[in-house]
Amino acid sequence: MNKALRKAVIAGNWKMNKTRPEAKALIGELAPLVKGAGCDVVICVPYTNLETALEATRGTDIKVGAENCHWAPSGAFTGEISAEMLAELGVEYVIVGHSERRQYFGETDETVNKRTRAALDAGLKVILCVGELLHQREAGITEEVVGLQTKIALAGMTKEDLKNIIIAYEPVWAIGTGKTATAAQANEVNHYIRTVVQKLYDKAAADAMTIQYGGSMNAANADELTAQPDVDGGLIGGASLKAADFAAIVKAAGR
Ligand code: 13P
Repeated sequence: MNKALRKAVIAGNWKMNKTRPEAKALIGELAPLVKGAGCDVVICVPYTNLETALEATRGTDIKVGAENCHWAPSGAFTGEISAEMLAELGVEYVIVGHSERRQYFGETDETVNKRTRAALDAGLKVILCVGELLHQREAGITEEVVGLQTKIALAGMTKEDLKNIIIAYEPVWAIGTGKTATAAQANEVNHYIRTVVQKLYDKAAADAMTIQYGGSMNAANADELTAQPDVDGGLIGGASLKAADFAAIVKAAGR
């Protein structure tokens, strides 16, 4: 598997954080720090910050994403936002299947698949999240869980579609806990996901697929994690809320 064949992407997931003035200030601080980065830089922000972020990132090297989207183009889905609405705003990326959506809002592998399809059809790039719970890791079924999540999410996607999908491996036990997977653990599962993609498609598709790691990635551990042969950048929660920390991670991945 050749790391040179694919692009590292560092994406921030702001989750439910930052008002508009705070968003503007953070982006203002971040933009000069990540100028000319050796990897792609994305910030996924709350819906209410999308326009602010699009405006504040204009002319910078930062791309903007949302944190979720619905699968229908429009309709009676109170509180939801469609992929088409995001695309119309000028948003480029969307996170789909984050474990917090699965845990707290009842999202399933099937709805993750539908959201992925809708996002691609709207012209968005998808950051598709998979990851096992602690008891699943302890039971030795990480590969089964992550493999199934990947296969169901990708059902119906063509090889062409894959070019607009990034997979983010986020072990749920490592999210917001300060308990990072070791570099070896991250690489092992990322590698496994790549073999799943290879079996579903082919080696070229698997080699070209950006597979991130996410879960307590920070300025101190980013070097080691992003240096792993199957880790193509990261999806960053807490550390993406501080410009200096996020920029340090971008620098590590861009090496
Ligand atoms: P933390 O980096 O805060 O652990 O969050 C990871 C995450 O969930 C990114 O989507």
